Amino acid sequence: MIAIGCDHGGFKLKGAVIDFLKQNGYEVKDFGTDSEQSCDYVDYAKKVAFAVAGGECEKGILLCGTGIGMSIAANKVKGIRAAHCTDYFSAKYTRMHNDSNIICIGERITGAGLALELIKVFLETEFEGGRHAIRVAKIAELEK
Ligand code: RB5
Repeated sequence: MIAIGCDHGGFKLKGAVIDFLKQNGYEVKDFGTDSEQSCDYVDYAKKVAFAVAGGECEKGILLCGTGIGMSIAANKVKGIRAAHCTDYFSAKYTRMHNDSNIICIGERITGAGLALELIKVFLETEFEGGRHAIRVAKIAELEK
């Protein structure tokens, strides 16, 4: 199950992402928001981050205007490694090296075509483990 959430700044992109995920066989849980009415990205980052950190959803997608507010908020939740991505290499390597469990994208920055490619590679790429697992474990230590 993939968790998805957005604020008003990411609302249009969220529709395209949900269609894309369903067409590609993913189950999606939509945590809102449900319109372009102004709202606070933190509330949706929290819902998605808790769903991922708690194990209800295996990965998460957060969309806002820049992707930055969502990533700052989601990374406050224990167990979350949220990556703000604007390019293909980062979306791939944050899975391989950081075992990121949420990708954050800005609708006002990244076009829908690229956003879907970033999400596709993020969801399909496995964590490499090894030396990277040691580093991720050190991140978890910081949360204590
Ligand atoms: C909303 O205007 C905007 O601030 C928000 O979508 C996001 O870009 C915050 O980081």
